[in-house]
Amino acid sequence: MTIVVTGAAGFIGSNFVLSWLTHSEEKVIALDKLTYAGNLENLQSVEINPNYHFIQGDIADAKLVAEILDEYEPRAIINFAAESHVDRSIHGPDEFMLTNIMGTYRLLEEARNYFNTLESEHKNDFRFLHVSTDEVYGTLSADDPAFKEDRRYEPNSPYSASKAASDHLVRAWHHTYGLPVLTTNCSNNYGPYHFPEKLIPLCILNALNGKDLPIYGDGKQVRDWLYVVDHCKGIETVLDKGKIGETYNIGGWNEKTNLEVVHTLCNLLDELKPRDDGKSYKELITFVMDRPGHDKRYAIDATKISNELGWKPEETFETGIRKTVQWYLDNQDWVSHVQSGEYQNWLNKNYS
Ligand code: NAD
Ligand code: DAU
Repeated sequence: MTIVVTGAAGFIGSNFVLSWLTHSEEKVIALDKLTYAGNLENLQSVEINPNYHFIQGDIADAKLVAEILDEYEPRAIINFAAESHVDRSIHGPDEFMLTNIMGTYRLLEEARNYFNTLESEHKNDFRFLHVSTDEVYGTLSADDPAFKEDRRYEPNSPYSASKAASDHLVRAWHHTYGLPVLTTNCSNNYGPYHFPEKLIPLCILNALNGKDLPIYGDGKQVRDWLYVVDHCKGIETVLDKGKIGETYNIGGWNEKTNLEVVHTLCNLLDELKPRDDGKSYKELITFVMDRPGHDKRYAIDATKISNELGWKPEETFETGIRKTVQWYLDNQDWVSHVQSGEYQNWLNKNYS
């Protein structure tokens, strides 16, 4: 048995592959274009695992995808591949449209072609699981209920609009062609191997380098945080038990303002790696220009996956964030490698 994991060298994809190989005998074919966000160092520990095979390539490359499906005959495709950073989508939406929309379309088409060649027994087992985001639902005000699966799509950024489009394609390929799809919409993840363009790793690394901790606007925007390993387990649960054609929201019931998150990071760093001058890392907090179209609040109602499939997060925000800060302190080699050329260009572009 084999699964194909796209976007496997990114933050969540690599955590998924690492977690999968700890308990499954099924082979993983990891497909990744290795954009700036893809990092094979994330997967170094499984390089010699006979059940792991990496292929560099684009999900929009129909010929390559067809060859992979033909050769490895997977029983599932789990699609993590995407351009994932809202700020980058504001500076340059092109890649987001190409990968998130056209890439998903081509992957779906090749999955459909492959699915149609399967014997009925293998057809019954096959799944296309599409990993998506809560951002497709748009923004909430303070007293709105959390997003449920039937919430109207109201994406507000080029990133979320492209993810919304991909979700619609996945839905259509099920309704029109009978492709056995599953979709998950998850809230903000954090944890090991998170590329430091996103709030949590950016602030940990800036703090350790004595740099400003940039808070967009007033810092009162709310995100709902989930430890990445819990997300990966949620995806496995949906793959195993999810009902074909359904979508499942995945979240940690951990709503925090951005300021709360950054204060927590500073408190942990004050404890685990105090500054030489004895001051708190909080002194580095700086308010900067807001993100255009910044969504105020996201919150996931994860009742469906919990009641129907029995998934619940294992980490609280307090336990998960401590593990995360400790991981960055313990993995300085990884940190120094990802902070090279392209990353510096991005910081100059976004924060200057
Ligand atoms: P990431 O940016 O860290 O990783 C994306 C990976 O996809 C990278 O390895 C990149 O090289 C690869 N990739 C990009 N374009 C590709 C293409 N055309 N073909 C093949 N590979 C390609 O993103 P992430 O945070 O790991 O997110 C993974 C998925 O989960 C995305 O679909 C994202 O929308 C979704 N998601 C992320 C979060 C979050 O908080 N990070 C939350 C909910 C959902
Ligand atoms: O909600 C799920 C989404 O979470 C995923 O779909 C995206 O792929 C993922 O990138 C993430 O999007 P966000 O925009 O919420 O994440 P980010 O870490 O970029 O920002 C989190 C919050 O922190 C957001 O309100 C913007 C704010 N922020 C971010 C950065 C990078 C700052 O205040 N300062 C910063 O420098």
